[in-house]
Amino acid sequence: MQSPRGTKDIFPLQSKAWRETEQKMADAARNFGYGEIRIPIFEHTSVFARAIGEETDIVGKEMYTFVDRGGDSMTLRPEFTAGVIRAASQHSILGQSPLHRFWYCGPLFRYERPQKGRFRQFHQFGAECIGAASPESDAEIILLARQCLVAAGINDFRLQINTLGNSESRAAYRARLSEFLQSVAEQLSEDSRRRMEKNPLRVLDSKDERDRVALVNAPSLTDFLDSESKIHFERVLNLLESQGIPYEIHSRLVRGLDYYSHTVFEFIGNSLGSQDALGGGGRYNNMFEYFGAKSAPCVGFSLGMERVMLTLEQQNPALYSPETPDVSLIALGEESVNTVWKYAAFLRAEGLSVITDVLGRSMKSLMKEADKFSIPVVLIVGENELAAGTVILRDMRNGGQRECPSEEIASAIREIIIK
Ligand code: HAM
Repeated sequence: MQSPRGTKDIFPLQSKAWRETEQKMADAARNFGYGEIRIPIFEHTSVFARAIGEETDIVGKEMYTFVDRGGDSMTLRPEFTAGVIRAASQHSILGQSPLHRFWYCGPLFRYERPQKGRFRQFHQFGAECIGAASPESDAEIILLARQCLVAAGINDFRLQINTLGNSESRAAYRARLSEFLQSVAEQLSEDSRRRMEKNPLRVLDSKDERDRVALVNAPSLTDFLDSESKIHFERVLNLLESQGIPYEIHSRLVRGLDYYSHTVFEFIGNSLGSQDALGGGGRYNNMFEYFGAKSAPCVGFSLGMERVMLTLEQQNPALYSPETPDVSLIALGEESVNTVWKYAAFLRAEGLSVITDVLGRSMKSLMKEADKFSIPVVLIVGENELAAGTVILRDMRNGGQRECPSEEIASAIREIIIK
């Protein structure tokens, strides 16, 4: 039996690197005053269909949707944002206080064509700032996203940013863009010809060479921004500059989800190949309405953990060093086993990583194992030590060995490890 296409099994060598990286990001989020939110892995299908947009690739062809035994249509979450806002709306959290800052981390599901950096089950770390319309909240979210990458140890990326303006600016632009696309329809890819009717903005970030050529003279959204939209965007850029954050304005960046207005951004990894977005996000001000609640402005980002880990594998292989136990406990003879297990319980309670033998192996093979896995200390209890209430401690790095009273084992082991 093979795992489903586009999924991954993560063994201890990798999971340790994942856990440490997620912890660094969680610490960064805490530094910014964000608290963790955990939401269901599946939701009613309508949560995603309405919030993400019926015309998007995600809703149109990538969702894992099923009818449950009660006859309801459910979908495995393809992103966090819609679920987070569903939860915020359901629990009326904005009635309790006007601003909420959440971070999240976990698995997501999209039926995409698997390739390097693209999976059907993947993971995101992200955050949403709920209740603020200000350019300051956009800048805060971008700073946090960037800090998560930097804290994880990634420095080789670019920040691309754009504004989609408010809905009036976008509607005016959309009309003009549609006219333009009609005039070059014959030169467009089939995908873009299909998209241009319902979602013309998406044609802009097509990677197809035919589209790139056809779009050279496309009207620019920047020319359609009203003064409110311009002022908002300029303030975001100004805040980034004041913090010394480099950015590139990318006027064709529109993102693949329909809910954005004003600021959108992506972090592009320089060593990733074709799936090069480490993460992205932006402002979305209308999502609460999809859940029947009063509208509230929001901004957020999500980072793709597989792409983050792929980058770290190349840039920081030390992160992938194996997790080694601190000490291997060896009982010589049946009578010593229970005592050795007592020592093991004591040392674990002291915070050390301890293994005991569960295969009935000889002292020789246990020493070999300790050597092979670079376990720094071996503790041995034989008949004599049992009688004397002592143990033998062996420093595996220099072969030195000494007898130690059982009350002192924790400090003695620590001394050897630190040496
Ligand atoms: P997104 O651009 O769809 O945005 O996904 C964010 C990141 O998740 C991508 O840049 C990429 O790194 C990773 N990602 C997406 N799909 C896959 C996949 N199939 N395999 C591996 N990694 C993938 C969102 O999801 C929005 N919810 C972001 C957001 C939060 N906007 C506002 N708040």
